[in-house]
Amino acid sequence: MVHVAVAGGTGHVGRAIVQGLIDSQEHQVYVFTRKPTSVFDHLPAVNIIVISYDGQDEIQNVLDKHEIEVVLSTVSPAGSAAFDAQVRLIRACSNSESVKRFAPSEYLIDLEREEEYQPFMPMLTFQRNIVKELRSHPNLEWTLFHNGYFMDYFGQPWAPTTMPSEVPFVDIEACQATIPGSGDDLAVWTHTTDVAKFVSRAISMKPGTWKEHSWIIGDKASLHEILRAAEKARGTKFRVAYDSVEKLKGGEVTPIPGNKAHAALYSTPEFDAYPLVLSMFAGIGTAIVSGHLDVPESESLNAEFPDIKTIKVVEFIEECWTGKQP
Ligand SMILES: NC(=O)c1ccc[n+]([C@@H]2O[C@H](COP(=O)([O-])OP(=O)(O)OC[C@H]3O[C@@H](n4cnc5c(N)ncnc54)[C@H](OP(=O)(O)O)[C@@H]3O)[C@@H](O)[C@H]2O)c1
Repeated sequence: MVHVAVAGGTGHVGRAIVQGLIDSQEHQVYVFTRKPTSVFDHLPAVNIIVISYDGQDEIQNVLDKHEIEVVLSTVSPAGSAAFDAQVRLIRACSNSESVKRFAPSEYLIDLEREEEYQPFMPMLTFQRNIVKELRSHPNLEWTLFHNGYFMDYFGQPWAPTTMPSEVPFVDIEACQATIPGSGDDLAVWTHTTDVAKFVSRAISMKPGTWKEHSWIIGDKASLHEILRAAEKARGTKFRVAYDSVEKLKGGEVTPIPGNKAHAALYSTPEFDAYPLVLSMFAGIGTAIVSGHLDVPESESLNAEFPDIKTIKVVEFIEECWTGKQP
């Protein structure tokens, strides 16, 4: 049994990963949280550790005391406080007697690959700097788990998920879509439950076998394929707008109704997240048309664990939406 700690495990992605680790029955699971939580009351096997990320030594003591061997970070990607916490966590892991492996909070795409979409996604600067920090700790084995976009969003509000409301390009509820480029570029879509299965298995890989980039491919589909599945399930043609590569690279995207609800989750009386959400989709759209979400399966963890069967996006949309009226 590997002792695994999930830092930020109370969050959206964290909860899915913790559930997968518990389901695997292969690991001793710890969740690091800044305050007492009832989130895992239904999972008594989860060990909750209340921790402050303010002091590196304190973190290191906790790691060594519980003989944590692997740390998975799923801390929030937003803001400098979370970034600083993750840096201290990495340094504590590097100095710890017990920790051998670390995976930072990522779960999207290879952010170092392309400069062009970076300006529109401010949180990516933090994530890139995390990679720089990791490179300065050669004693720590680490990987970035990439899974493309979460498939869960296409099942909302019908299918259970730990993810909050988000609408990537095809708004099935509103019967509208905003398509970057031609709509025929393939992209990776992975359900969080499948991400958790691969992460859980990756933890038990032989020491020294983690690569810097660990791709997890739930399914690959173009936005046209997703649109067709959505139109079939809703029984109607969608209103569709196409955004040129130039427009996307200028940080702009045609809005769809679901962008508002998505932005509302992150807005405060002082801060309107709507422009940020739109520019983030311009960035993701640019990544899709650049082919950066179309990775070869041979380079993914799927090749390592071919027995893991994943949810397919067209079937998922049909199952979630056929006959449903929001
Ligand atoms: N591919 C996709 O479609 C997709 C979608 C969404 C997210 N993601 C990625 O998934 C990762 C996790 O995102 P998420 O939405 O799950 O995060 P989240 O729920 O917003 O935050 C996760 C946890 O981070 C902890 N946290 C927040 N602020 C912190 C701070 N200042 N210091 C230390 N801990 C802090 C909190 O735990 P406690 O309060 O318990 O300490 C929180 O529950 C990110 O890297 C994100 O980019 C990918």
